Amino acid sequence: MPSRTLEPVQELHDAPLAPLTTFRLGGPATRLVTATTDDEVIAVVREADETGTPLLLIGGGSNLVIGDKGFDGTALVIATEGFSLDGTRLELAAGEVWTDAVARTVESGLAGIECLAGIPGSAGATPIQNVGAYGQEVSATITEVVAYDRRSGETVTLSNEECAFSYRHSRFKSDPERYVVLRVRFALEDAGGLSAPLRYAETARALGVEPGERVPLASARETVLKLRAGKGMVLDPEDHDTWSAGSFFTNPILTDPDFETFRARVRDRLGDGVEPPAYPAGEGRTKTSAAWLIDKAGFTKGYGDGPARISTKHTLALTNRGSATTEDLLALAREVVAGVHEAFGITLVNEPVTVGVSL
Ligand code: EPU
Repeated sequence: MPSRTLEPVQELHDAPLAPLTTFRLGGPATRLVTATTDDEVIAVVREADETGTPLLLIGGGSNLVIGDKGFDGTALVIATEGFSLDGTRLELAAGEVWTDAVARTVESGLAGIECLAGIPGSAGATPIQNVGAYGQEVSATITEVVAYDRRSGETVTLSNEECAFSYRHSRFKSDPERYVVLRVRFALEDAGGLSAPLRYAETARALGVEPGERVPLASARETVLKLRAGKGMVLDPEDHDTWSAGSFFTNPILTDPDFETFRARVRDRLGDGVEPPAYPAGEGRTKTSAAWLIDKAGFTKGYGDGPARISTKHTLALTNRGSATTEDLLALAREVVAGVHEAFGITLVNEPVTVGVSL
C-alpha cells in the first residue's frame, strides 16, 4: 500500500457509498477519501494514477448510479470550498454546493444562473454535463474551467470554447477519465437587481410575463424552486420522489427525417391529432421530450410496484422508494427504454453516470 501523501485527507476503508448519492444506492468503496483543498484533490488523483488504482470522483452524488457491488478502488469526495466574486466575475471551487452558490449570486444582485436554483450537486459537476434548466445552461455564463489534466499531470485552464459544450454534454463527458474539475469561473450580469431575460415559457407563465422579459432576481429564483419542487426535483429526504438523479434520461435530439418518421408513428399509435413536443435543436434537428415519450408509452407517474418506481410527480425521474437496490433501478430503467423503443422507435439514453454497471 503506498504511503499517504497528505495528512489532512480523511480516509475510510470499505466505506458505504449509498449515503453519498441522491439515489441512496450502491455498494461500498475499497477506500474513500475526502479532499478539502485543490492540492489534496490533485495528490489523491496523482497517487491513484501512479499506482494504477481505479478512481471514482464524487461531488454532490446527484448524478451517480453505483452498482450494488460497489467500487473497487479509491472514491474521492471533492469537498473543496470557495466562492469569490469580483464585480460580475464569479469563481467557485468544485466542491461548493451549487444551489447555495446560486442563492448567493441572487443575493448579490447578479443575473445569469438564477434559473438553475434548486439543482442538486456540486459546482464542479455543472460543466461536465452542461447543466441546464428553465432556459439557462451553464455554458452561457462559464468563462473558464480550471482542471487537473491527468494525462499531462498539469493544472490547466480551459476556455468556454475548449469545453466544447452542447446539450447536456461537454469535452469532460466525452473524455471522462482525463480532467478533474477544480474551479469554475462565470461571467454574470448586473441588471440592476433583475434576472436575465426569461427564456422558458413555463417560467414566464408562472410569473405572469412574456418570454424575453426580465423579472426581479429573487422572484425568478423562487418561481423556479416552486416549479422544481412541484416536479419532485428539489431534494427532500422525507419525499421519496426526490430519491432520484433528477432526469434519468436526456431528451432525444432527432434529425428532420427521423423526426418525421417519429411523428408518423405517434399519429399511428395515439391518433391523428396528436403532435409530439418539438423544440428547435440547431440546424436540421429537433428535440423532443423524454418525459412525454415515457408517459405516452404507458409508464405514467408513479409507475411500478417494486421498490424502484417512476416518480409520482414527473415521468422522467426514476426513484428509490427506500429499499431498492441498484439492480431494481436498472431493471426499471431497462423496462422503460424497451417500452419507449417498442412504442416509438426511439432509444432513450441515460443522463446519470453509471459506475460498475450499465443499462
Ligand atoms: N411531460 C409529461 N409527463 C410528465 C412530465 C412532463 O408528459 O410527467 C412532458 C410535457 O409535455 C412537458 C414536457 O414533458 O411539457 C417537458 O417537461 P419539463 O418542462 O419538465 O422538462 P423536461 O424536458 O422533462 C428538462 C430537463 C430538466 C429541467 C427541465 C426544466 C433534461 C433531460 N431535463 O426536463 O433537467 O429541470 O427541463 O428546464 O434536459 C435534469 O437534467 O436532471 C433536469 C431535471
